[in-house]
Amino acid sequence: MAELSWRDGATPVSAAFGEGYFGASDSLGEARHVFLGGNDLPARFRDGFHIAELGFGTGLNAVAAAHAWRESGTAGTLRITSFEAWPMAAEDMARALAPWPDLEPHARALVAAWAAGARRCELPGADAGGAVVIEVIEGDARLTLPRWPGRADAWFLDGFSPARNPELWEPGLIAEVAARSAPGATFATYSAAGAVRSALTAAGFTVERVRGFANKKHMTRGRLIPGSGVTGEPGVEGASP
Ligand SMILES: C[S@@+](CC[C@H](N)C(=O)[O-])C[C@H]1O[C@@H](n2cnc3c(N)ncnc32)[C@H](O)[C@@H]1O
Repeated sequence: MAELSWRDGATPVSAAFGEGYFGASDSLGEARHVFLGGNDLPARFRDGFHIAELGFGTGLNAVAAAHAWRESGTAGTLRITSFEAWPMAAEDMARALAPWPDLEPHARALVAAWAAGARRCELPGADAGGAVVIEVIEGDARLTLPRWPGRADAWFLDGFSPARNPELWEPGLIAEVAARSAPGATFATYSAAGAVRSALTAAGFTVERVRGFANKKHMTRGRLIPGSGVTGEPGVEGASP
């Protein structure tokens, strides 16, 4: 379980990494700008769209994506798969997600499932029908991602800073991200660190440095270059949605 303290009563700070889970005081605005906007979402949403994330943390990015999906009115299923080594206690997650009334129905459903021990839950989809299926795969992503049989259309790369959490930005792990990407897949991250951009370039992504959120000058986004990244059928169990 993640051990936390709280900054300003609202932002969880990891004891192990000595860093806050969010980079800006408007963390929902940051999630929308960096991870949704950086992946051209909600514009790219379609039935069966699959988001994958390194670092589930509070679930804020996932809940923000679920909310955007519902607001977009897209019928069908959005899948979100997130990799997390130190899951948060349900009461901490509830506290971290409490400030946003807009997100409340999705956050409540996620926290209820999480408190019951579920790591897979279904949140309401659009009024037109469907659902958002969130699955969290526990364990060190360096071990769990290579065994994941999925293919993502969009990646949220959201480890702690590369200086404090280099494991989640290792070139080998970024190559696994590329190998588990569907054709045309995109990524977005708040980080603009040179080593991160180099790892993404080496893995076969275009890498674009764009305006960051609030007082952060830059973030990074990009797209899988056709013919890159795919190393054959991923995972040990064959293809999955
Ligand atoms: C910045 S936080 C993620 C914030 C999150 N996306 C949110 O919406 O709240 C980084 C997360 O990466 C997780 N993490 C760090 N190293 C990891 C690893 N090797 N494997 C899996 N998760 C890891 C941490 O436990 C933490 O939850």
